[in-house]
Amino acid sequence: MKYQVASLKKEMLSDLAALERLCFSVPWSENMFAGELNNPAAMYRVVLCEEKLVAYMGMWLVADEGQITNVAVHPNHRRHGLAKQLIENFIDIAKREELASLTLEVRAGNQPAISLYQHFGFRQVGLRKNYYEGKEDALLMTLFLNEVGQEKGEKQN
Ligand SMILES: CC(C)(COP(=O)(O)OP(=O)(O)OC[C@H]1O[C@@H](n2cnc3c(N)ncnc32)[C@H](O)[C@@H]1OP(=O)(O)O)[C@@H](O)C(=O)NCCC(=O)NCCS
Repeated sequence: MKYQVASLKKEMLSDLAALERLCFSVPWSENMFAGELNNPAAMYRVVLCEEKLVAYMGMWLVADEGQITNVAVHPNHRRHGLAKQLIENFIDIAKREELASLTLEVRAGNQPAISLYQHFGFRQVGLRKNYYEGKEDALLMTLFLNEVGQEKGEKQN
């Protein structure tokens, strides 16, 4: 299958909201995403497959920190490396913008997402008790960008 990464555009908002409803029990609405298009701190990327929106990821740039708002992949397109591709894309942007870190919140029971973030070196830096619907904990995870690639450099020396 041929996938293409693109920036989020207004005409994609309804498809984005539909994907969001498919992926989350408490989804963001189309209006919330529309607001993001007018938020100068927000950056969104989508993945298209034959013009169908099949994945997205968002980030807010706040001072020298990137806050990942969400990442989601259509169930029929999971385990094809799309989330990996999106995160790599955002890590490149973060490095270019000279950010110090990328941070996100994830449900403590969301093992696929936790494994995904760990793959890139995100570490748990905090815990918000009963953060989701008053019953599920949120893990706060951070990727410190000054550590990215360091291990490789050490091996070369
Ligand atoms: C989490 C999610 C974004 C992963 O997307 P994906 O495109 O399937 O992920 P990738 O194919 O890029 O996988 C990257 C890595 O993540 C981990 N991973 C992904 N899905 C996994 C699963 N079901 N179980 C365990 N690990 C998983 C693996 O380490 C994987 O690497 P590998 O394939 O080499 O083993 C997707 O399952 C999803 O949209 N879930 C619902 C929405 C959600 O929970 N978003 C995260 C909110 S914080």
